[in-house]
Amino acid sequence: MFIDERITTFIHSLETPESPLLEEIEDKALADRVPIIRKETQSFLKVLLQIERPGSILELGTAVGFSALLMSAYAPEGCRITTIENYEKRIPIARENFRRAGKEKDITLLEGDALEVMRGLEGPFDLIFMDAAKAQYIHYLPEALRLLEEGGVLVTDNVLQDGDIMESRFAVERRNRTIHKRMREYLYQLKHDERLLTSILPLGDGLAVSVKKGKTL
Ligand SMILES: C[S@@+](CC[C@H](N)C(=O)[O-])C[C@H]1O[C@@H](n2cnc3c(N)ncnc32)[C@H](O)[C@@H]1O
Repeated sequence: MFIDERITTFIHSLETPESPLLEEIEDKALADRVPIIRKETQSFLKVLLQIERPGSILELGTAVGFSALLMSAYAPEGCRITTIENYEKRIPIARENFRRAGKEKDITLLEGDALEVMRGLEGPFDLIFMDAAKAQYIHYLPEALRLLEEGGVLVTDNVLQDGDIMESRFAVERRNRTIHKRMREYLYQLKHDERLLTSILPLGDGLAVSVKKGKTL
C-alpha cells in the first residue's frame, strides 16, 4: 500500500455499512480473493454518481457484480448499467447476485472480451468505469472515447499500481514491466488527449477521473 496505512484505516473506520446483500457479496468476494473496488473507491464513486446523476453506465470488468450493484444503488432511478466480463467462473455468480438484488432489468451483463464487446456497442454512455485488464486500458481508450457522451465521465481504477507506476521500469519486477509501460502510456494519453480533462487521484490503488470535453469546455 503506497498511501499511509493509518490514514486508510482511519477513513475506513468512518464508513457506514451498505445493504446486507451488498455487505454479504463484498465479504464473500474478499474471502474468495476476488478483486473488487476498495472502500475508499466505493465512497468516491457513490459521491460522483450523486453529482453526475448518469442515465447510463458502462463498466468494464464485472467480477461478481459488486461494483455494478453498488453503482446501481447510488445512481438515479432508471439508470441502465451495462457491464462486461470474460471469466466464465465469475459470470454465473454475478448473474445470481443481480437476480438476488432484483436488478436484472437495470443491469445487463455482456459476456466476452471487453474490447471486442465494446466494438459492438452503440452508446453513448454518461459514465464509463474501467476496471478490467490493466494492460489493455490503452487499447480500450479509443472505444471508451467513442462510447462516452460529451461531458461524460471516464473513471479508471488501479492506475497507480500500488506505487509501482512512479518507479523506473528496471525497479519493477520483470513480469510486471509490460503493464507498467502500458499504464504509463495510458496515463500520459489521458492527460494529453485534447478531448479529455483528467485528474489522477492517489485513492485506493489510484483512480483517474476524466471528463470528455463538450462544446462548453
Ligand atoms: C478488478 S476485477 C473487477 C471488479 C469489479 N469491478 C468490482 O469492483 O466489483 C476485474 C475483472 O475484469 C475481468 N477481465 C479481465 N480482462 C478482461 C477482458 N479482457 N474482458 C472482460 N473482462 C475482463 C476479470 O476477469 C475480473 O473479473
